[in-house]
Parts: sequence; C-alpha cells; structure tokens
Amino acid sequence: LIIMINFINMAFKRNILITGGAGFIGSHVVRLFINKYPEYRIINLDKLTYAGNLANLHDVESASNYTFVKADICDFDKLIDIFSEYKIDGIIHLAAESHVDRSIKDPLTFARTNVMGTLCLLQAARQMWEECPEKYDGKRFYHISTDEVYGALRSDGTYFTESTKYDPHSPYSASKASSDHFVRAYHDTYGMPTIVTNCSNNYGPYQFPEKLIPLFINNIRQGKPLPVYGKGENVRDWLYVEDHARAIDLIFHKGKIADTYNIGGFNEWKNIDLIKVIIKTVDRLLGNAEGISEHLITYVTDRAGHDLRYAIDSTKLKKELGWKPSLQFEEGIERTVRWYLDNQEWMDAITTGEYEEYYKMMYKG
Ligand code: NAD
Ligand code: DAU
Repeated sequence: LIIMINFINMAFKRNILITGGAGFIGSHVVRLFINKYPEYRIINLDKLTYAGNLANLHDVESASNYTFVKADICDFDKLIDIFSEYKIDGIIHLAAESHVDRSIKDPLTFARTNVMGTLCLLQAARQMWEECPEKYDGKRFYHISTDEVYGALRSDGTYFTESTKYDPHSPYSASKASSDHFVRAYHDTYGMPTIVTNCSNNYGPYQFPEKLIPLFINNIRQGKPLPVYGKGENVRDWLYVEDHARAIDLIFHKGKIADTYNIGGFNEWKNIDLIKVIIKTVDRLLGNAEGISEHLITYVTDRAGHDLRYAIDSTKLKKELGWKPSLQFEEGIERTVRWYLDNQEWMDAITTGEYEEYYKMMYKG
C-alpha cells in the first residue's frame, strides 16, 4: 500500500491542499485548479459545516486529479496524517467561518476555526515541511483573507491599500485579522513561505443564501420580504467570484513570498442601489415588470458595528502581476441572477436542509 501511495504522490507535479473547497469561493478555486492543472493533485479539505456543500463541485468530483477529505482544520493530528499521506507542497487556505451576522451571535466558533484552525494548519505545515530534506524549498502557504480587517472607510473616496492599518470591528474580522498576523509571524519567525491576500465582497454562483445577493434573489423569487439593514447606505466593493479565483491562481504561482496583495473590483455599490438592480434583474428574468418587487424592501434594525464602507485599491496586483477583473458588473450580476434562477434545486436543497442530511449519511463523524 505504501509503495502504491508513493507512486501516486510522485505521479503529480504538485500536491496542493485547498481548505474550505466545498464553500463558495473555495469551490471555484478547486474547479479552476482541477481543470487548468491536470498535472497537480488537488486535495480539498473541508469540515462540511453548514456552509460546506459538495454539490458545489458536482461537475468535477470525479476528476482523476481530485481528492476530497472531510476534516476539521482544528484537528492537528488529522492534519499531520493528511500531510504525510499526500505529501502536500502547497496550501491555499480558505476554510473559515465567513458570515458577519453569525460571528455577532457566536464569536467563539469564529475564534476556534479562524484563529486556532489557521494556527493548527500553520503548525502542521511547519512540522512536516521542516522534516523534509528540502525544507521550505518549493513550498507555499497562501492564506485568503478579507478587506474587513482594515475596518471601515468614510464616504470620502479613500481606499484600503496594502499598508492600511488593521482595525477590525466585528468578531469575524477580528478573527481574520488575528489569523493574518499568525500567518505573517510564521514567515518572520520560521521562514515559512507565506502569502496573504485581502479581497473585497465576492458574488456569483454557489454562495450560501445567508449572504445578501443570493438571499435577496431567492426572497424576490418567493415574494418574501428583503431585510435591508439600517438605511441601506452601507457601501461594498463587489467582485465576481471567478475573477477572485483567477487572482488566487496568479498569486499562488507568481506572488512574492511574504507579500500581501489587495484584490478588488473598483466596483462600489451602496446596498440599496445594488438591491434595486437585483430586484430589476430578477423581475425581468422572471418575465415581470422591472421594479414590481420593490415593495418587498423592508428596512430592519441595523447590524451591530456595521462597517459603513469598504473599497479596495488593487493597483499593486495590477501593476506587479497584471491582474484585473474580467467581467463588467452588469454582466456579472445578470449571470449570477440567471444562475440562481436556473439552479433552484441547489437552492431548495439548502433551504430545506436536505444537503446536510445527505452528508451526515455519506460522511459520518
Ligand atoms: P464559505 O462560508 O462559503 O465557505 C467556508 C468553507 O470552509 C465551508 O466549505 C466550510 O465547510 C469550511 N470550513 C469551515 N470551518 C471549517 C473547519 N473548521 N475545518 C475545515 N473546513 C471548515 O466562505 P467563503 O465566502 O467561500 O469564504 C472563503 C474564504 O474567503 C474565507 O476565509 C473568507 O474569510 C474569505 N473571504 C470571503 C469573501 C466573500 O466575499 N465571501 C471575501 C474575502 C475573503
Ligand atoms: O468584504 C468581504 C466580506 O464580504 C467577506 O470577508 C465576508 O466573508 C462576506 O460575508 C462579506 O461580508 P459582508 O458582511 O459585507 O456581506 P453580507 O452579504 O453579509 O452583507 C453585505 C451588505 O449587505 C452588508 O452591508 C450588510 C447588508 N445586508 C446583509 C444581509 C445578509 C443587509 O442589508 N441585509 C441582509 O439580510
């Protein structure tokens, strides 16, 4: 068996661990890497929390360069087993608790996964890579973070750059900020080849319908209220998820070790304006008069500590690595709304909880 495992490990040019690959962004990264790099083996490690859904990967799950492992990034011993079995030489770390509202209700889970989980992964990589004869040569630990660590901007045309001071406000962003610090500390202390990127709000297919865009598309379709926090004046900078995945691919291969890159679309929208675009698009695609669903807008109590504005300056990434978003927002939102309307089964399996029952049966423990 050991000979067979060694043979399989050697058959691939690289063995890349992608954590959180059953989630929204992770599934797009896994798909891109499986299709673009048949010479790499992609190991998707995911705990399958409520946010993990293997249906996000149904089209690539039988690819010969793909392996799924159900595991918790906080389980250090399991991580060591996975590292030794698959001879991991690159990590793209996306696994996290990602929803701000949940972090307000349950901050400890966010500290556990985002802080301790990231630390466990760093420590497992360090232990295994330092044992190799070539040590950190050819290795890479790429940590995916968020623009929320920088705090909130005023409506004054300023942007977050890579040197903006960290100033997180929610338990979610505080936990991500902490994990970013640990990643950088592993470079500075142990020489681990790390990279961190901070990205703005993603949108597109397979996003869990607790987040603004998929939640509102589904509610409009069902004629349910659209809960707008506060006055709907908060501003977010939206990037199509496949453009984020392309940036991750580029940075994983060409980014400078120990560096940080901001990723964003220079595409700011006030929530209420974005919501009206979504309403018009859903109405039109359902064959209704554009704007007929605006009566569903319901202003509700604001999110606690709600950051007013995020806006990313991604000039460095453009200048140094030549990345820029490929999709205009109008096209991205049209494609996204169409996808959710065309994939009602995917949505229904989540809203009924059916998707979790299936995994409980398939992957015990
Ligand atoms: P998501 O919530 O859709 O997916 C997270 C995935 O991580 C799920 O598959 C879940 O099962 C898995 N996971 C959670 N806890 C785990 C654990 N303890 N062990 C193993 N797996 C675990 O999140 P997303 O929106 O795809 O975000 C992915 C990453 O990108 C996160 O690190 C997030 O902070 C970051 N990010 C997200 C956005 C965004 O707009 N969604 C923007 C910038 C950065
Ligand atoms: O900026 C990057 C971040 O973007 C990521 O790090 C997070 O993982 C991701 O969840 C996202 O955070 P936001 O809090 O910006 O996303 P969310 O979809 O929850 O909310 C977007 C905006 O819409 C925000 O201003 C809150 C508002 N909102 C959200 C929901 C769910 C509403 O007004 N009503 C809602 O029901």
